[in-house]
Amino acid sequence: MNWRIEYADRICTAQEAVSHIKSGDRVVVGHACGEPSIILEALVDSAEGLDYRDVEIVHMVAMGKAAYCKPEMSKHFRHNGLFLGGSTKKAVEEGRGDFTPIYFSDIPDLFRTSLHPNVLLVQVSEPDAHGYCSFGISCDYTKPCAEKADLIIAQINPNMPRVMGDNFIHVSELDYIVDQESDIIELAPPVIGETQKKIGENIAALVKDGDCLQLGIGAIPDAVLLFLKDKKDLGIHTEMFSDGVVELIKSGVITNKCKQIDKGQCVASFLMGTRNLYDFVHDNPMVKMLPVDIVNDPRIICQNDNVVSINSCVEVDLMGQVCSESVGLKQISGVGGQVDFVRGAKMSKGGRTIMAMPATAANGTISKIVPFLTEGATVTTNRCDVDYIVTEHGVAQLHGKTLRDRARQLIEIADPKFKDELKMEYTRRFHENF
Ligand code: COA
Repeated sequence: MNWRIEYADRICTAQEAVSHIKSGDRVVVGHACGEPSIILEALVDSAEGLDYRDVEIVHMVAMGKAAYCKPEMSKHFRHNGLFLGGSTKKAVEEGRGDFTPIYFSDIPDLFRTSLHPNVLLVQVSEPDAHGYCSFGISCDYTKPCAEKADLIIAQINPNMPRVMGDNFIHVSELDYIVDQESDIIELAPPVIGETQKKIGENIAALVKDGDCLQLGIGAIPDAVLLFLKDKKDLGIHTEMFSDGVVELIKSGVITNKCKQIDKGQCVASFLMGTRNLYDFVHDNPMVKMLPVDIVNDPRIICQNDNVVSINSCVEVDLMGQVCSESVGLKQISGVGGQVDFVRGAKMSKGGRTIMAMPATAANGTISKIVPFLTEGATVTTNRCDVDYIVTEHGVAQLHGKTLRDRARQLIEIADPKFKDELKMEYTRRFHENF
């Protein structure tokens, strides 16, 4: 059948589309800045009228309002977070939602096995001449989920860039189409203060010409990019990237020339940034988006040499154990792709893993380098997998180092006002003065 006829037949309003969701359904929401805000809003607005009960909302990084997490929505929806953030962590903390620990690379398999998606809510680009829409800035678990979902409700949005790679779906696969133009969610560039600049500078000293980078999210990875302007032929194979990478591509620092796989291309699974980033990636063959079970598979990551993973964390103990996702028992984010990339970088010839964080949290009142992880905290990244811990005060090189050496180096890069307490623990533990 001519795809244009199918397309026209399936167009409806967001309200009509969500009326096909039933109580008890598991509804997966497209990821991060790619989330279909208009459909989500219609879902929440319809909850009372359609008397939804026990609808499970599975979502990872929620960049919109996540109104399904509001207390008054708890009789209709229950959130199952695969990663938490500002708009979702309270619901889990207050018992109105749940958190599922899972490596990002494993999520597609979850949808293929134990967590069958009844409905996928997604946002895609306009169809091309052949009827294919791009998942745009969110390929990650969204595309694999589309292959399993019983029902796909899609917003077709001309503002969604068409991004190359294994990142397309045919119009005939979409059950209900909401044909509506709206702004794509943007992530403003982070404010980079003095602390982040110093951390960025310290990390940049560990990056060599020709390295292949994975950059986590937030001010620290963005700050690193500011200090890479003098490097040559860097490559990108990363779970996500934002605007900072565009600058380095335009200035010729990122060429992807030295990669062993996907030579000449930046590989990612999702993108978060401003319109500048979204315009840059549109129809750009230099950017390749792939599902997250491919991008984040350590066996794929390590096919490139000199992979450097750069991630951030909540706290580090004196042995180098890293907690990146909870404050004690309180879950604040998730493992995401951190361990996927740490493993891949460790397996890569010449690869290195870097954990970077400010030395303190909560306006300087809490040391992030601690004798023991806070009670209830999870070890996100194992002490044997960490090569470098970086703060604004310097670099601790942990790989191959004894517990005594590790503790000594970590105390050196802690905030000065917490050093006495850490040194006391050093003396108690190692039977010698610091
Ligand atoms: N003790 C108590 N609270 C702490 C803390 C500590 N040691 N460290 C951080 N916090 C608090 C902060 O004060 C902040 O609280 P607020 O939200 O009330 O302001 C919150 O935790 C988040 O910390 P912040 O430093 O603002 O986070 P960030 O945006 O720089 O992100 C991580 C840091 C670790 C949360 C984030 O990198 C993460 O989730 N990592 C795991 C996943 C990952 O690495 N993915 C990589 C691929 S994208």
